[in-house]
Amino acid sequence: MSDILVHTEAGVCTITFNRVDKKNSITSAMYAALADAVEQAATDNAVRTVLIQGDATIFSAGNDIGDFMAQAAKPASEMPTESPAIRFLRTIAAFPKPIVASVCGPAVGIGTTLLFHCDLVYAGDNAAFSMPFVNLALVPEAASSLLAPQMFGYHRAAEALLLGEPFMAEAALEVGLVNRVVPPTEANGIAQAQARKLAAKPLTALVETKRLLKMGQQPAVLERIGVESKSFSDAMRSPAAKEAFSAFMEKRKPDFSRF
Ligand code: COA
Repeated sequence: MSDILVHTEAGVCTITFNRVDKKNSITSAMYAALADAVEQAATDNAVRTVLIQGDATIFSAGNDIGDFMAQAAKPASEMPTESPAIRFLRTIAAFPKPIVASVCGPAVGIGTTLLFHCDLVYAGDNAAFSMPFVNLALVPEAASSLLAPQMFGYHRAAEALLLGEPFMAEAALEVGLVNRVVPPTEANGIAQAQARKLAAKPLTALVETKRLLKMGQQPAVLERIGVESKSFSDAMRSPAAKEAFSAFMEKRKPDFSRF
């Protein structure tokens, strides 16, 4: 079974994280599959809406930390000009049709920040959102340094991004990150029903409405993804990040006293 499942039915392209044993953490190969699926959905006439989901216990633990370590070990000159993760982020940030998400359980790092690029978000009452980049000696991505303050207000965004502590579904509802909190076993079904509702509407009006909703901010979002990606790539190679990644793999607390 693939780690990313893609299935189109009734105008909805459903993309499912399917690596539950590793908490749906996302490898480079998975980012490439995600980017391919979303790019294809943009031009496929059979797709009118995309739905991104995990299962009732886990949305995603964010970037695979072993993958981070492997990337950090390579010289910067050997890195592709655009990593699969950045290609995925740019693709969803510029995606013309509606994107719906269903989030249950932990949504860590990009598991939370990708939601800034979704149009409707349904959360199980067990959803726990977090952006613990600083805890890994990293910096925000997915234009979250721009979009979190816009959505949450500066101080709540600073708390979420500087402390990196999880916040639960009700808090996410309050700051506007999710549309509705539902029982976890029902979240994927409710999100699918909402996606099908959208898919039954005239596509040209949906696409134009989304374009108008986003037109003020899209250039700034794409620019911020680029700026953050440079800082992120530098941070990933820092000694503090190496300590954080090793600590995670060795299941111990990191020691940042030297950094
Ligand atoms: N990368 C690689 N492997 C990961 C992972 C990640 N981001 N998140 C979880 N896993 C793996 C664990 O190493 C473990 O593997 P093992 O069974 O071979 O030991 C397995 O998934 C289960 O994870 P575990 O931590 O035991 O589950 P949990 O239910 O106690 O906690 C999380 C779930 C998501 C809260 C926790 O795994 C976590 O915090 N993960 C890291 C999140 C993170 O920092 N992501 C990067 C953000 S930028």
